[in-house]
Amino acid sequence: MNSTVSNDNNPSATLSFSDGSPSVTMPIYKGTIGPDVIDIRKLYGQSGKFTYDPGFLSTAACNSSITYIDGDIGKLLYRGYPIEQIAVNCDFLETCYLILHGELPNKSQRDDFVHRVTSHTMVHEQMSTFFRGFRRDSHPMAVLVAVVGAMSAFYADSSDVNDPQQRAISAIRLIAKLPTLVAMTYKYSIGQPFVYPSNDLSYSANFMRMMFSNPCEEYKSNDVLVRALDRILILHADHEQNASTSTVRLAGSSGANPFACIAAGVACLWGPAHGGANEAALNMLIDIQNNGGVEKIGEFIADVKNKNSGTKLMGFGHRVYKNYDPRAKLMRETCHEVLNELGLHDSPLFKLAMALEKIALEDEYFVKRQLYPNVDFYSGIVQSALGIPVPLFTAIFAMARTVGWIAQWNEMISDPEQKIGRPRQLFVGATERDVKPIAQR
Ligand code: SDX
Repeated sequence: MNSTVSNDNNPSATLSFSDGSPSVTMPIYKGTIGPDVIDIRKLYGQSGKFTYDPGFLSTAACNSSITYIDGDIGKLLYRGYPIEQIAVNCDFLETCYLILHGELPNKSQRDDFVHRVTSHTMVHEQMSTFFRGFRRDSHPMAVLVAVVGAMSAFYADSSDVNDPQQRAISAIRLIAKLPTLVAMTYKYSIGQPFVYPSNDLSYSANFMRMMFSNPCEEYKSNDVLVRALDRILILHADHEQNASTSTVRLAGSSGANPFACIAAGVACLWGPAHGGANEAALNMLIDIQNNGGVEKIGEFIADVKNKNSGTKLMGFGHRVYKNYDPRAKLMRETCHEVLNELGLHDSPLFKLAMALEKIALEDEYFVKRQLYPNVDFYSGIVQSALGIPVPLFTAIFAMARTVGWIAQWNEMISDPEQKIGRPRQLFVGATERDVKPIAQR
């Protein structure tokens, strides 16, 4: 294929075939930043051939204005604003407003948005009965997939995907209620009563109270820890067309209601290669710690390099970031702040994580494969220090990513070009054959 810029400035690419089929010329589109794309939509009709891209390494599934990532230089922009500036100058609800509406809110817009979210934090009282059907030791993501999907049964009045007003109220309901459902999931697992949301607290302070307060004593909020949680939510809010966001878009392309689509995103995020990596990364650090600690890092790294071991350095590597994940740097800073606030700066796990990171960043195996720490490497240590149990880490990730999922879903639904997502395949199975009677098989 070669790309040509015809004299009318409409760049295009022409694909020619060695089998003599007629060549196909396809338009090339330029975004505001980032790689150009080749529009292959007419390729099959004109050539009878599909493109082949398992894992979508070279495929743009949509156009979007929400989040931009440059993996080569480790850059992440939410609606054009660098994550480093958002993390320092905004809180999570301001970030939600930005991701949903495309601009940072002014004071009155912010106050109105906070009021709307705050007045939707309670869930329907009957939803609390769903938890009783689960074993207390169920994985929180099994519970969260169920209760988020069940929201479809309670909020049918905001499920018409073609009504922008209903899409807007669904977005508010999901952002507002996810913390309540995640906290209920946790309380159920430890046999404590559910704690209702408190509307005079900030989003993150409210979540920490629903998680850690109990009816028997006064709960005192710690502003440093609340700010740390808020930053975790900001850093996980959106991330372009990752696996769970693509799942939400694909589910949404069939016209499924927003609650069902977000439940699909929760299910996909659960995987250890994706959102489940923070749980896996902390378990990996605990495992090394329990089996010799820093002295054993060399042995562990050797295991990772041994393909047959199946051992991965969880919290390292990324499909897009071939440089340091900018979120990992911010998460490491938050780690320092929280551990210092809690007098845990000598935390053996944090020391082990930094030792592991140092070795990996200098080791040819990881350097050659451009494997750097990603957002999940440090987030587990921070969450652990906040008192969040390891199995709940991915549920916190889902709580943060809900705004990204719903914004991307909304963008897709409002895109006049959108169609139901229906990829094709390279068929390598049996060619047509006849069924034989069982006696002849
Ligand atoms: C998230 O997409 C997103 O944006 C996701 C996310 C978001 O915010 O939504 O950023 C959140 O999911 C972060 C990623 C969390 N996952 C992990 O930390 C799990 C460990 N990482 C890997 O599973 C892996 O790095 C992936 C899945 C993240 C990316 O894998 P790719 O891009 O498909 O790369 P690959 O598996 O083809 O690996 C390339 C090479 C291979 O070695 P070779 O075959 O070339 O010899 O790198 C090796 C891999 O074996 N490799 C690793 C490794 N990750 C890749 N080797 C050891 N440890 C690792 N972690």
